[in-house]
Amino acid sequence: MFARRIAVIGTGYVGLTTGACLASLGHHVVCADVDVAKVQRLRAGQVTILEPGLAELVQEGQAGGRLEFVVGASAAVGDAEVVFLCVPTPMGQGGAADLAAVESVIAEVRTMLPVGSIVVNKSTVPVGTAARVSGLLKRKDVPVVSNPEFLREGTAVHDFLNPDRIVVGCDIQDAAERVAALYARLGAPTVLTDAASAEMVKYAANCFLAMKLSYVNAVAELCERLGADVADVTEGMGYDRRIGQSFLQPGPGWGGSCLPKDTQALLQVAAAVGYDFSLLQATIDTNTHQRQLIVAKIREAAGGRLRGRRIGLLGLAFKAGTNDLRDSPALAVAELLRAEGAELTGYDPGIDRDVDGVRVVSDAYEAAKDADTVVVLTEWPEFRGLDWSRINELAAGSVVVDTRNHLDPDALRRHGLTWWGVGRGHLDLGQDLAAVI
Ligand code: UDX
Repeated sequence: MFARRIAVIGTGYVGLTTGACLASLGHHVVCADVDVAKVQRLRAGQVTILEPGLAELVQEGQAGGRLEFVVGASAAVGDAEVVFLCVPTPMGQGGAADLAAVESVIAEVRTMLPVGSIVVNKSTVPVGTAARVSGLLKRKDVPVVSNPEFLREGTAVHDFLNPDRIVVGCDIQDAAERVAALYARLGAPTVLTDAASAEMVKYAANCFLAMKLSYVNAVAELCERLGADVADVTEGMGYDRRIGQSFLQPGPGWGGSCLPKDTQALLQVAAAVGYDFSLLQATIDTNTHQRQLIVAKIREAAGGRLRGRRIGLLGLAFKAGTNDLRDSPALAVAELLRAEGAELTGYDPGIDRDVDGVRVVSDAYEAAKDADTVVVLTEWPEFRGLDWSRINELAAGSVVVDTRNHLDPDALRRHGLTWWGVGRGHLDLGQDLAAVI
């Protein structure tokens, strides 16, 4: 394979993973960030993002002379054949993606880009951004390509090196092919398309995943009311290859840095072109409702009210394997509990400071101490192996609300605790189901 000279602008989890993985495929990569201290740490091989395998790849890349870190985009692009934009695109006013970082990088580097180089949008950007960036660049010789990432936090390196697919879009096909060739060694199915379609793939995929999760959470609620077991229902659904087993786990709602932002952004984009995307709106509303349902369950477990109740929270991150609190459903639930006057103590293996009104302690037992109700909010594997008889001794109450259906209900029962999951029939409607339907 022909090694390319690549610049990656932005060293967040997408940029750093992209840079380190492209270097591991044999390319020469220069990664740039505006944060001087971060660049210094990366040069010393220190990676602060919790991402398995990433620190090793960063160190290997530097040792092999294929990966460098510089301060500022202009220091990275002078020699680049391909420039990846991996800067943040946070939720801006009204839910639309905020493109200020992309625009400022373009303004900084536009005159420095080598003749015939390619700019690649990796950040999730609204449909039409490639065209807009092209307009800002004012460089007919530099095509702008959309190449969305599909990296999950916590498995980003694995996902990069074992992709389900590569999507590359450009209105100039030759540029799309040149970008696709960077990944040739991965042997993944590759979709070559126009820029707008590539941009749309990212939103359509993430919003579909969010919709799948909201659907499952709604089905779980219904299972609870009808006395069905959502674990068996989703297993039965998932064997249908058109549905698949993954992303069928009910929980406290979906969160993180991508799904909430991307669902809002697509809703805005749809509204801007006059399309009322009611299915997507319902997906978001169901997610808000899911958090309220979880709070209702905790309230019931705590004896009908939350004021003055001590609640021990196990897990704060938006999912296991990360220390990321952005749009974490656990924090959304915590906020609702606090609004009703609950006192919150929390433990998360990746978090060592108090957050949003939650007193963070250093182990699960301390979080459970004197708790009227213990609540599992993030599916950390270590929670399965807790000493439940010790938790039963420490806690004031005996109900554990497991919002992820993560624990073994029998193990808890053996130690005198009551397990309440999601969609697995704890709810007693106080009426005979046969009489209702
Ligand atoms: C997501 C997409 O999966 C990824 O392709 C995209 O590039 C970025 O956004 P990520 O935000 O890392 O990745 O999280 P993901 O693993 O997809 O989980 C999203 C949310 O859904 C989390 O809150 C998670 O706990 C929840 N979830 C996921 C469930 O509640 N049940 C499931 O079965 C799966």
